[in-house]
Amino acid sequence: MTLHKIGIVTVSDRASRGEYEDKGGPAIQDYFAEILTGEWQPVARVIPDEQRVIEKTLIELCDSEGCALVITTGGTGPAPRDVTPEATEAVCPKLMPGFGELMRKVSLEKVPTAILSRQTAGIRGKTLIVNLPGQPRAIRECLDAVMPAIPYCLELIGSGFLETDATKVQAFRPKK
Ligand code: MTE
Repeated sequence: MTLHKIGIVTVSDRASRGEYEDKGGPAIQDYFAEILTGEWQPVARVIPDEQRVIEKTLIELCDSEGCALVITTGGTGPAPRDVTPEATEAVCPKLMPGFGELMRKVSLEKVPTAILSRQTAGIRGKTLIVNLPGQPRAIRECLDAVMPAIPYCLELIGSGFLETDATKVQAFRPKK
């Protein structure tokens, strides 16, 4: 059994200044507490919408903390200070565009403004980074869609075996 560290990064100017409560980070943590059966540990950060700070945080969670997975929430939209996808792309030598495509597809069934999210994903070393929009309700909608493919992705990049409760998330592993 592997102990997985999961990075949870809330990207929000106002939450980082304490002007409002961070709802996204705790919602992501609750989601993983519900669907994972193996040992795991959250590594949470709340940071402003500054590209250099986002990049530094992602690099720290990947390279120093050794997170297998990093989930960001917020900063994916079209506003001038929304730069989470740019920071993700800057620190990931390999991009995983299928994640953003699928999350937008399922989100569009719920809300027409789903097309405004530029959420993406990428690989840095042995870490998969996935962007989610800032809306707390988007978290479950998006993670439910991509979670079945994440354990196999983590195996392919050498991060070990992520165990999920099969009644909540059925991890798909192609037969070799
Ligand atoms: N996706 C889901 N599933 N649910 C949502 O409510 N909100 C959209 C979109 N994606 C939303 C969603 C809206 S209104 C915006 S502006 C973009 O995500 C970007 O949000 P962000 O800048 O908070 O990341």
